[in-house]
Amino acid sequence: MTAGPVTAVDDAAEAFERLRRHLSPKLALTGSFAGRGAVEASGEGCRVMLSDGRSVLDFGSYAVTLLGHRHPEVVAAVRHQLDTMPTSTRSLANPVAARAAARLAGYLGDVLPKVYFGLNGADVVEVAVKLARLASGRPRVIAVRGGFHGKSLGALALTHSPLYRVGLRGCAVDVVHVDPADPAAVLRELAGGDVAALVFEPVQGENGAAALPLDVLRRWSEDAARQGAFVIADEIQCGLRRCGERSVALAEGLPVDAVLLGKPLGGGVVPLSALVCSERLYAPLAADPFLHSATFGGHPLSCAALPAALDAIEHLAGHGRMLSDQLAAELELLRRRHPGVVAELRGRGLLRGIDFTSPRAAGAVVVELAAAGLLVSPCLGRPTTVRLLPPLVSTEADVAEAVEILDSAVAVAERTAGG
Ligand SMILES: Cc1ncc(COP(=O)(O)O)c(C=O)c1O
Repeated sequence: MTAGPVTAVDDAAEAFERLRRHLSPKLALTGSFAGRGAVEASGEGCRVMLSDGRSVLDFGSYAVTLLGHRHPEVVAAVRHQLDTMPTSTRSLANPVAARAAARLAGYLGDVLPKVYFGLNGADVVEVAVKLARLASGRPRVIAVRGGFHGKSLGALALTHSPLYRVGLRGCAVDVVHVDPADPAAVLRELAGGDVAALVFEPVQGENGAAALPLDVLRRWSEDAARQGAFVIADEIQCGLRRCGERSVALAEGLPVDAVLLGKPLGGGVVPLSALVCSERLYAPLAADPFLHSATFGGHPLSCAALPAALDAIEHLAGHGRMLSDQLAAELELLRRRHPGVVAELRGRGLLRGIDFTSPRAAGAVVVELAAAGLLVSPCLGRPTTVRLLPPLVSTEADVAEAVEILDSAVAVAERTAGG
């Protein structure tokens, strides 16, 4: 076996063997299926080059690559930090994290002044819930049916699908999941006076790009706020203009105490997530910063990426609206061409779900897409849905190409899966 970093010339078969032996046989299997036996080798914009020389269009990557792969300004900012001080002492002050926090609070309109940085989305779900419980002195959390908030034990308690909790009864947080079809549900749950927070995804990504009804979110949030429970918008997937707005909840004027961001926050180059919140929610951490800390929180490489990432996102925001309109129009035509197999279109902006009439039909589409070179993200919680997450850096021609590939795949699925 060779030592050192995996490169494009590394033998793909060896990579799969290592994956099987040291990580997971299932990961090896699904990766081999997606790459048709090749592994990812390099990325640029919305394309990923494979070890066998092919390139695929990346409209997946689980929403991380909003700026595509290796956005040049983000790479330059990270490279500069790499060449100066890539890691923090954690005893001296870290100016890179301080600059990133100020920039992020300003980006969201300076209404939520406090910031906590994590690496993964679940990190900031955990800290948001912990702070809500400490600041309110109440134990319970209200989350929403269909919501996904991560898989670490605390975040997992808020994630709705029981699929992720098999063998793990009794998660660490006391959570009730309310139904978006029930506008009075939050008020009822608040009656006991023991609710610390209401947590929701304005557009549920893992649940197939399901946008929650805004009138229900408004009613729930106002009920929670009136009763002193914290209102937390998990925009780890739908925020940062993925769905058009910097924050969906803030743009709608919902009375939120916190917005959670992640995935593309590090520009698709480095891992970064953030809790951006009110003084009231942050109070326990302001009093004692060691109440919740992690070795790599506020990591200079990640925080260096943030200003460059936000600049790039804003620069492309208008283009993103145009791409979103184009995608919506082209998907609607596709739906009309294949009424027997496409059940429903969902989503907003550059987060779109195509719901098929059966898991078999959706599976057949995914098989065809892998062969034709379009990467999409499946939805584990909703096996009938295929999720499209085009990067802001896509061109109109990229979107047209993706829909064309999709159209051929759906036509094959229509024949083989019988709708
Ligand atoms: C809305 C939402 N919240 C939280 C998470 C968890 O993020 P991570 O997987 O980075 O922990 C995800 C991940 O898909 C998500 O979509």
